[in-house]
Amino acid sequence: MAGGSGGIAAALIDALMAAERVRFIASHPDAAARVGGGLPGFYQGVPMHWMRDWPMPFPMLVTGAQGATLADSDGHVLADFCLGDTGAMFGHSPEPVRQALMAQAGRGLTYMLPTDDALAVGALLRDRFGLPHWQVATTATDANRFALRVARAVTGRAKILVFNGCYHGTVDETFVRLIDGAPVNRPGLLGQFTDLTAGTRVVEFNDLPTLEATLAERDVACVITEPVLTNCCMVLPDPGFHEGLRRITRETGTLLLIDETHTISTGPGGYTGAHGLQPDMFVLGKPVAGGVAASVWGFTDDVAQRLDAVRATTPPGHSGMGTTLSANALALACMRAMLERVMTDAAYAHMEALAGRLADGLSGVIAALDLPWHVVRVGARVEFICAPGPLRNGTEAEAAHAGPLEQAIHLALLNRGVLIAPFHNMMLVCPATTMAQVDTLIAAFAEVAGILAQGKAA
Ligand SMILES: Cc1ncc(COP(=O)(O)O)c(C=O)c1O
Repeated sequence: MAGGSGGIAAALIDALMAAERVRFIASHPDAAARVGGGLPGFYQGVPMHWMRDWPMPFPMLVTGAQGATLADSDGHVLADFCLGDTGAMFGHSPEPVRQALMAQAGRGLTYMLPTDDALAVGALLRDRFGLPHWQVATTATDANRFALRVARAVTGRAKILVFNGCYHGTVDETFVRLIDGAPVNRPGLLGQFTDLTAGTRVVEFNDLPTLEATLAERDVACVITEPVLTNCCMVLPDPGFHEGLRRITRETGTLLLIDETHTISTGPGGYTGAHGLQPDMFVLGKPVAGGVAASVWGFTDDVAQRLDAVRATTPPGHSGMGTTLSANALALACMRAMLERVMTDAAYAHMEALAGRLADGLSGVIAALDLPWHVVRVGARVEFICAPGPLRNGTEAEAAHAGPLEQAIHLALLNRGVLIAPFHNMMLVCPATTMAQVDTLIAAFAEVAGILAQGKAA
C-alpha cells in the first residue's frame, strides 16, 4: 500500500503541503524579503545547489547555531535534528572545537607541514579505530576516492563493487544502480558520459549468494559499503551479513572498505567498533573535525606493506591523490578537540539514551495511528520511513521513498519548531540535545501524522 505514498491519499498530502507553505511564508517575512527571490550572485540563488533541496518555499537565513539549537533571521529558534546532515553530529560549535579554532586562528591555518596536533591525532585515530595507518583528506568523498585508488593499486584490479542504493559522496565510480535488476549509471548524473558499469559491479545489500558469485571472478579490488545503508532510507544488515561479507572478500582477495561517515552515530569506534567488523580500510568524514572540512581514512598493516611494494616499483610522478588543503593545521586542531574531548563515551551515552527515547516515541505514534510506517535507529541516528519495514536492500528502499509526503512532513515539523534532514527522514541526537527537544519532536510528529492519518489537512 505504501510504495511511494506512505498509505496517504495524494490530495491530503498536497493539502498539508499547501497549508504549511502558507504558514512558512507568513512566518518568515525577513527571509521572504531578502532571499525569497534567491541570493544575489549565486547560480539558482544559493551558494550550493543542495540548499535548494529543502522543502521550504525559500531558504531561511541562519543567524547562528549552538549545540542542538539553530536560529534564523525571523526570530525562530529551532530544535535542530538535522545537524548539518551529520557535519555537526556532535552539536554546533562544541566548546572544545571553538577553543581549538580560536587558538589556531592567530597561528596560521595551513602550512602543508605537520603540527603538535597532528602528532596527537595519528595516535588517537589508531587507538580509537584499531587500524595502524591513517591519512587525512578534506571530505569523505575525497577519502573514499583515495582509498579506492589505493585498493586498486595494491590488488592490481580495476573494478570495485558497491551495494545498490549506496552513497559514498560524489565518487564517480560509485554512481551505479540496479534498475529492474540491470546495472546502469545512476539516473540524474550531470555531464557523465562514461559507462560506469564497466568498472563497477553492483549487487543488492544483504544478498550474499550474488555477492559471492560476483566476487568469484576475482576482478574486484574492493567492496565499499556503509555497515548500514543510510542514504536510501535505512537498511540494516541481516544477521550474519557482515560475517559473510568479510569471509567472501577474504576468500576472493578483495579488500573491504567500510565507510562510517554516518554510522559513527553508533558508538565511539563507529559500527565497526561496536560490532567487531574487520575492514581493510576505513573512512570517516563530515563530523570528525566538528564541521570544519576534514576526513580520515585508515588501513591495515597488510595494505600498507603492499602499498610500499607498489610504490617501490612506481615511477616518480603525481600519485593522483591528495589535495592542497588536506590535513591543514586548522582541521587537525579541530579533529584533536573532537577526538579527545567531544566524541567521548559520556557523549555517546547521552546520545544513545535520547535517541532511544525518540525512536520509541515515534514508533508509538505510528502504532497508535496504525500507519504503515516504521522507525529504524543506529545509535544516535533515527529515521522514520513511510513504508512498512524492515527494508532489506536498495531496491526496497527506493520503493519506500514517499517524496511528496516526506517533504510535507518536513515542512510541517519545521513550522512546529523542529528541523530534520532533507533528502531522507534522518534525525540526529547530539550531546547537547535535550529531552525537551526530543519530546517536542515526538509531539510535533504526532500532530502532523495525526493530521495525515485522519485526513484533516490543516
Ligand atoms: C556514507 C557517506 N560517505 C561519504 C559521504 C560524502 O561526504 P562529503 O559530501 O562530505 O564528501 C557521505 C555524504 O553524505 C555519506 O553519507
